[in-house]
Amino acid sequence: MRVLITGAHGLVGQTLARYLVANTSHNVILTSSSYIGANIPTGATFVQHNLLEQGVKSLLDWANPHAVVHCAAIGSPDACEKQPDLCNRLNAEIPKILAQETMGRAVKLIHLSTDFVFDGNTGMYTEDDAPSSVCLYGSSKLESERNVLKYNPNALVVRTALVFGMLPNLARTNILQRVVEALKRGDSFRVPIDQVRTPTWSWDLASGITLLLESSKSGIFHIAGDTQISVAHFAMLIAQVFSLNSSLLIPVLSQELNEPAPRPLRTGLRVEKMEQQLGFKATPLAHALQWERVSEYNYY
Ligand SMILES: NC(=O)c1ccc[n+]([C@@H]2O[C@H](COP(=O)([O-])OP(=O)(O)OC[C@H]3O[C@@H](n4cnc5c(N)ncnc54)[C@H](OP(=O)(O)O)[C@@H]3O)[C@@H](O)[C@H]2O)c1
Repeated sequence: MRVLITGAHGLVGQTLARYLVANTSHNVILTSSSYIGANIPTGATFVQHNLLEQGVKSLLDWANPHAVVHCAAIGSPDACEKQPDLCNRLNAEIPKILAQETMGRAVKLIHLSTDFVFDGNTGMYTEDDAPSSVCLYGSSKLESERNVLKYNPNALVVRTALVFGMLPNLARTNILQRVVEALKRGDSFRVPIDQVRTPTWSWDLASGITLLLESSKSGIFHIAGDTQISVAHFAMLIAQVFSLNSSLLIPVLSQELNEPAPRPLRTGLRVEKMEQQLGFKATPLAHALQWERVSEYNYY
């Protein structure tokens, strides 16, 4: 299968590209708006393409894929709050066009979404729970989900949460990298104690997306880690596994962080649907971090 991955400069798209190249015989085509050089795995093809400037159609004409995994997005809630127009265009409008185009071409579409579509009042959400977002990032992704499933009913929407992994030269760093880098420098690091998530190992997400890619499923699926934990406690676990000084971690309330975007407090995604229908099993959290500690020395 020829698989086009958008957003290949991000943790999700980059890990998926490496996973598919290493574990499957699929023909992998990557795209991103900047050139990603050393992050193009051997055996994959890369094209630099700005979806907002060059559109969706020309990319699909060129790549002629059997499947698209759409990871390109403004993934930072704060960036969305600061640039609402850009956020809506990339996060909501582009997926709509992608859904229309893939439907017309009978191309499989897997669209990435987030736990931020929920308000965070209860947590441990199933695919059937009613979404309601508290920030622009979440509402743009919620609109994208609705657009994708309306214009391509065969499509898949994958919701995930707080993805972590150690790959180098990504579009932005993730919680694992930020904690490890700060503590190694000897800097203190403030972490919210009132935000609860199910942190997701990027390699588990890649294997779950691959299961869906090779299935005939459609609709919404959650792929997330096996532990519901506060971001502060997750940072503490990272410090322990990486043998770093955990006393540099400062637990704070979200309001003390003064971030532009409000965050849903208690999320977490249930993954029984993936487990029962596709045999997905998340790696235990501490075990995933141990793997990342070993891998770290291969990447830096
Ligand atoms: N990371 C998480 O914790 C998390 C959690 C839940 C859901 N998700 C979802 O998973 C998906 C991937 O997230 P991520 O964290 O891997 O993303 P990310 O690090 O924010 O990377 C975003 C990607 O989108 C590309 N992009 C941005 N503007 C573009 C444009 N105009 N045209 C083409 N490409 C453009 C970026 O390319 P350049 O850098 O080259 O510009 C980059 O490759 C997103 O849909 C996100 O909402 C992520």
